[in-house]
Amino acid sequence: MNHTLDPANWDEFRALGHRMLDDMIDHLSSIATKPAWQAMPESVRSAITTETLPTAPQGAELAYRDFLTNVLPYPNGNLHPRFWGWVQGNGTPLAMMADMLASGMNPHLAGFNQAPALVEHRVIEWLRELMGMPAGTSGVLVTGGTTANLVGLTVARHAKAGFDIREEGLQGGGRPALTMYCSVEAHSCAQKAAELLGLGNRSLRRITVDDEFRMDLGALRKAVAADRAAGHKPICVIGTAGTINTGATDDLPAIADFCAEEGLWFHVDGAYGALARLSPALRPIVRGIERADSLAFDLHKWMYQPFEIACVLVRDAAAHRGAFAMTPSYLAETTRGVIAGGLPFAERGIDLTRGFKALKAWMSMKAHGIDTFARLIEQNVEQVRYLAERIDAHDKLERMAPAPLNVVCFRYAEAGASPERADALNRELLIRLQESGEAVPSSTVIRGRFAIRVAIVNHRTRTADLDRLVSAVVRIGDELAGHPGGILADGVREA
Ligand SMILES: Cc1ncc(COP(=O)(O)O)c(C=O)c1O
Repeated sequence: MNHTLDPANWDEFRALGHRMLDDMIDHLSSIATKPAWQAMPESVRSAITTETLPTAPQGAELAYRDFLTNVLPYPNGNLHPRFWGWVQGNGTPLAMMADMLASGMNPHLAGFNQAPALVEHRVIEWLRELMGMPAGTSGVLVTGGTTANLVGLTVARHAKAGFDIREEGLQGGGRPALTMYCSVEAHSCAQKAAELLGLGNRSLRRITVDDEFRMDLGALRKAVAADRAAGHKPICVIGTAGTINTGATDDLPAIADFCAEEGLWFHVDGAYGALARLSPALRPIVRGIERADSLAFDLHKWMYQPFEIACVLVRDAAAHRGAFAMTPSYLAETTRGVIAGGLPFAERGIDLTRGFKALKAWMSMKAHGIDTFARLIEQNVEQVRYLAERIDAHDKLERMAPAPLNVVCFRYAEAGASPERADALNRELLIRLQESGEAVPSSTVIRGRFAIRVAIVNHRTRTADLDRLVSAVVRIGDELAGHPGGILADGVREA
C-alpha cells in the first residue's frame, strides 16, 4: 500500500499549477472590465447543487475546469472597483500568493518552535504598535471581527465576573446577572458574543445614540447605575470605532474614563474603523482606541487582506491567557525540540489547530509599507467625502446620515413620495442596480427608513466609479419614479 495525494507526475502538476496562477492573475488584472456582480445561470446553479458525491477520481484537470466554468465567474463581487456592499475588502494579488505559500508550507500555528510562529508574534507586535497599545499587550490572529470580539469579550467576562467562571460556569444560582453595554448602533456580533458567553441577549444593554450615532454617555451612566441598583453586576462597555451603519465612532476617551471610574472592562469593536489609526490625519477620529482593555479589528476589511484574518489585542496578557489556556499532558511545553515555546496562540483563543494567516499580513506590511496602507485608507475616506458632496449637490438624491469615515447612506428622493413609497422605490432601485452589474452598494435602515449604503474598503475604486454610481442611481430612480404603479420591493407589485 503506497497511496498518497501527491501528484503521480510532478511535471504535469507544475504545468497545471502555472496555468492556475496565470488564470488568477488574468482574473485579477481584468476585474474592472467585468460586471460588479452577475447572477448565476440556472445551469451553473444546478451543475453545482446536483453533483453527486465524487467517489471515483475525476482528476485535477477536470476539477479545475469546473472551477473555471462554474465557480470563478460567479463571486459576490467584492474584488470589483464598484463593490461597496457591507464591509468587504478586496484582497490583494500579493496576499493571494502569500496565502498559497502559507497553505503550501501548511504549518500548525498553535505555536511550536518554528519560524512561522515568530512571524505571527511579529505581526501581532506590529499591530499592537500601530494601535498604540503598550508593550506587553497580548494578541492573537483570528478569522474575523466576530471572533475577535468574542475572544475579547470572553476575557472581559473572565476578568470581571468576580468568581472563577471557567470552573463554575454560569449555572450556579444566586449570583448577580453579568451585564454588558453597547450602543444601539453596535454590530450584531456583540449580541452573538453575549449569547455565546451565556449572558444572554437581554444582558447586553443597548444604549441610545446622539444625532451623530455615537453612544449617549449620559444614558450609559444611567443604565449602569440602574443595573447596580437592581443588584446586577456590570462588567464591560463595548465602544465602537466605525459603526456598521454610518461609520460613527463612539467617544472612546469618555468611555475609557467611565470604565476606569466604574471598574469596568473597556472593549472596542474597531472591526474596520480601528485601521483609521494608521493615518496620522484620521487618527483623531478614533482617539481612545489605545486605552482599550481589549480591541478587535479585521485585516480583511480596511487592510485589504484576503479573507480571513482579524486580530484581537488584550492589554493584560495574563488575563488573556487566563481566559483560555489549558495544558493537557499531550500538549506540555518543553525547553527544547519542536514544542519549545509552547502553544501561545492556542492559549489566547478558541482554536487549537490554526493556519498561517499571519504570512499574508507580514508580507503585505513589508512589501507595501504601512504608509501605503495609510494612504489607501485616506483615499477611501476622501472618496466617501466626494460621494457625499455629489449626493448633497444633487436634487434627486438625499443623504440619510453624517458620513464621518468611509460609509455614506443615501437614497433617491422622489418628489412627493410617502416614506413607505420612498422605502419601496429605493429597495427596488438597489436590487436593480446590483442586478445590472454596474455597482454593489448594500442597504441599511436609518431612523426607520431604508437607505442605500456605500462602505468603501476598496483599494481599486476610482473617482470615476463613484460618478458612475451616481448616474446609475439617478437613472434607475428616474425609471422607477416614472412608474408609480411599477414593480417595487423585490418584485412585489405596489397596490
Ligand atoms: C463594526 C463591525 N463589527 C464587527 C463586524 C464583524 O466582522 P466579521 O465580518 O469580520 O466577522 C463587522 C463587519 O462588518 C463590523 O462592521
